[in-house]
Amino acid sequence: MAKVIIYKSKTGHTKRYAKMLSEELNIPCYSYKDAKASENDEIIFLSYIYASKIMGLSKILKKYNVKVVIAVGALAYSKDYVETLKNANNISLPFFYLRGGIDYSKLNFFFRKFLSIIGKDIAKDDKELLNLFKNGKDFVTKNNLEPCINYLKNI
Ligand SMILES: Cc1cc2nc3c(=O)[nH]c(=O)nc-3n(C[C@H](O)[C@H](O)[C@H](O)COP(=O)(O)O)c2cc1C
Repeated sequence: MAKVIIYKSKTGHTKRYAKMLSEELNIPCYSYKDAKASENDEIIFLSYIYASKIMGLSKILKKYNVKVVIAVGALAYSKDYVETLKNANNISLPFFYLRGGIDYSKLNFFFRKFLSIIGKDIAKDDKELLNLFKNGKDFVTKNNLEPCINYLKNI
């Protein structure tokens, strides 16, 4: 069975992780819209998080044989956050969380406004988070992907 990466990305962070993973594992990588995979392929699905929801996950689970789910969000990694996301999205599959970032230049007015309002609420007095929600930031590194790469090389 072939392994195939399918990703969903709005502002590019998830796409960059998907491409890095594809190069590292030497397997094809398609965006959600252009996915060329058969029902038998083993799918590694990457998508971004909006309001704790992993976008497109329920649709992809209905259509494909998903083996691993990788979610990309703006908040820092922690074991608690990983558990919160797994519960909020009903995930029993192997799951990884990667920090993406916020790129305000690629968001429309509605999402920019939404993030700056909820951002203040989430950040409270945390200076790093206040700055993140005010100015945006890019946290994508290959280093973040290492645990996924190690896991996927061994299955
Ligand atoms: C409306 C909105 C809601 C978001 N909600 C969350 C969230 O609940 N948790 C989180 O970690 N990041 C959240 N983010 C941040 C995105 O997940 C982050 O920008 C991610 O890197 C986007 O991936 P992409 O560049 O592939 O589209 C939110 C962003 C927007 C615009």
